[in-house]
Amino acid sequence: MAPYLFLCLFLFFSHLYASFSSSGSHSCSSLIQFKNSFSITEQASLFCGFKSYPKTNSWKEGTDCCSWDGVTCDHLNAHVIALDLSCSWLSGNFPSNTTLFLLPHLQKLNLAYNDFNHSKIPSEFGRFTSLFYLNLSDARFAEEVPSQVSHLSNWFHLISPLGFMTMRN
Ligand SMILES: *[C@@H]1O[C@H](CO)[C@@H](O)[C@H](O)[C@H]1NC(C)=O
Ligand SMILES: *[C@@H]1O[C@H](CO)[C@@H](O)[C@H](O)[C@H]1NC(C)=O
Ligand SMILES: *[C@@H]1O[C@H](CO)[C@@H](O)[C@H](O)[C@H]1NC(C)=O
Repeated sequence: MAPYLFLCLFLFFSHLYASFSSSGSHSCSSLIQFKNSFSITEQASLFCGFKSYPKTNSWKEGTDCCSWDGVTCDHLNAHVIALDLSCSWLSGNFPSNTTLFLLPHLQKLNLAYNDFNHSKIPSEFGRFTSLFYLNLSDARFAEEVPSQVSHLSNWFHLISPLGFMTMRN
């Protein structure tokens, strides 16, 4: 009997641990808040040559954001490391204090083919020290790229609203 009890306890606690460590509900709620700052309109991604659909529609509070469309986590720590929201019908001003900045492990961010209404590119993008790929192509951002962003890291691809691609090393 005892070995089964231990097995049950083990399974119970490892499950408990997994649910606490899964990406942190904290990151998931940052993503939900980010999603909620936009409206979803098909017109925002009209010129997307690829499959265009509202990826954030699959984002549901109370579920693990590592399984959401467009979200990639690392397997070890369940940190959100990549976000591909290109062609996702996001429409509206891009908040300079967006909760996206609460995801410090982000390495790749694709916001291409949305309509951010000519918002300024927030200089806070420069806070992502791990970011090496940022795609703002056809996202209707203002054209000026803050220097904090263009000097982001040692190895950096920036696809700015003007289509430039920057690589540094
Ligand atoms: C777009 O920005 C203008 C000001 O530049 C504002 O008046 C308008 O409400 C914004 N539209 C949306 C959909 O946020
Ligand atoms: C961002 O700023 C706006 C206006 O300054 C405020 O209403 C909003 O609550 C802020 N959002 C966050 C996530 O801090
Ligand atoms: C930017 O993202 C768009 C949409 O995903 C993609 O088609 C394009 O190839 C990307 N650009 C680069 C240079 O990676």
